Amino acid sequence: MMNTKIDLFTPIQMGAFTLPNRMVMSPMTRLRAVGSIPTSLMAEYYAQRASAGLVVTECTMISPLSNGYVNCPGIYSPEQVTAWQQVTDAVHRKGGKIFLQLWHSGRVSHPSLLNGELPIAPSAIAAIGTLHGPTGKVTLDTPRALETDEIPRIVEQFRQGAKNARQAGFDGVELHGAFGYLIDQFLQDGSNQRTDHYGGSIQNRARFLLEVVEAVCQVWSSDRVGIKLSPSNTFYGIHDSNPLATFSYTLEQLNIFKLAYVHLMEPSEDDLKTRDVINPVISTFRPLYQGLTITNGGYDKFKGNQILETGKSDLVSFGKLFIANPDLPERFILDSPLNELDFATIYSKTDQNLEQGYTDYPSLKL
Ligand SMILES: Cc1cc2nc3c(=O)[nH]c(=O)nc-3n(C[C@H](O)[C@H](O)[C@H](O)COP(=O)(O)O)c2cc1C
Repeated sequence: MMNTKIDLFTPIQMGAFTLPNRMVMSPMTRLRAVGSIPTSLMAEYYAQRASAGLVVTECTMISPLSNGYVNCPGIYSPEQVTAWQQVTDAVHRKGGKIFLQLWHSGRVSHPSLLNGELPIAPSAIAAIGTLHGPTGKVTLDTPRALETDEIPRIVEQFRQGAKNARQAGFDGVELHGAFGYLIDQFLQDGSNQRTDHYGGSIQNRARFLLEVVEAVCQVWSSDRVGIKLSPSNTFYGIHDSNPLATFSYTLEQLNIFKLAYVHLMEPSEDDLKTRDVINPVISTFRPLYQGLTITNGGYDKFKGNQILETGKSDLVSFGKLFIANPDLPERFILDSPLNELDFATIYSKTDQNLEQGYTDYPSLKL
């Protein structure tokens, strides 16, 4: 009898691409794009991880006002587009596929990161927490609520970001709809108290997300567009009064677009401590979505294979394990020991020694 068991190493058709395995490198901010321009070191870092079935980049600014961190890359200037080409070329030379994560931080920002301007958001409700600005730790202030007629311009910036990503040689884009950033802020009623047609009902709150998806799918065929959602994430105080209804509606609407995938994040240990959140996310929402899903959050080889075998997801993404193990797929195949993550060097704190904890994790000598 033929063995039909699906595991992390079963190839999969994702839109136009046949991926050699079902291991996705989850998007991870590493703050090494000095002055927001991608570097040759970033090209080396992503190329080292190109044996993932799909690499998704760190979140990337669609405009100067979408910034939330020092040394985050952007995709809005010609210089950034050219600089990203070295990254896509390097990954492609290794036979990999790479999507760019398009991002707007919204209220998770600070005037010191925005040339003195106030962060923008659906409503003037501050995120909870602090950020590292250019001159140190800052508390998140109350953002400025967007005027209704300003919103199309931001949708347009996402569209332009997708165009620029295509020009830079990416294979597709992932919209950052997770983690309490702008798209998520519109979606969830803890951060959206608008009274126009972008607030109030779930349909209205999902409007911004769906307009962005539609705009990006006009630039690029929808099978090159993914979106990440985190229904149970509590980052920076994001919350919704009825996440089951909000995210169920959103996923049902996303079915229409026939996207490359929806990337769904499970609650972290902190999320589980903070609130009574939906857990597990994938089992709750998978039945509502007809396309491919990537499940994320706390997976290792065993758990990854297990979830694929149950058919609850089509792919699995790995974050922290890919930071410390550039050759994670090879290590999983060989059951080799994994490198330990060095927490101190996850984010660069200066513009010096950027390779430490970034490109210097060893690969197996095969
Ligand atoms: C250092 C670091 C940076 C991250 N940056 C991003 C990001 O830019 N975009 C995003 O969607 N998720 C980001 N995440 C979340 C990861 O993509 C992933 O959802 C999370 O780490 C859980 O997966 P894991 O348990 O396999 O690490 C980040 C996580 C880490 C550890």
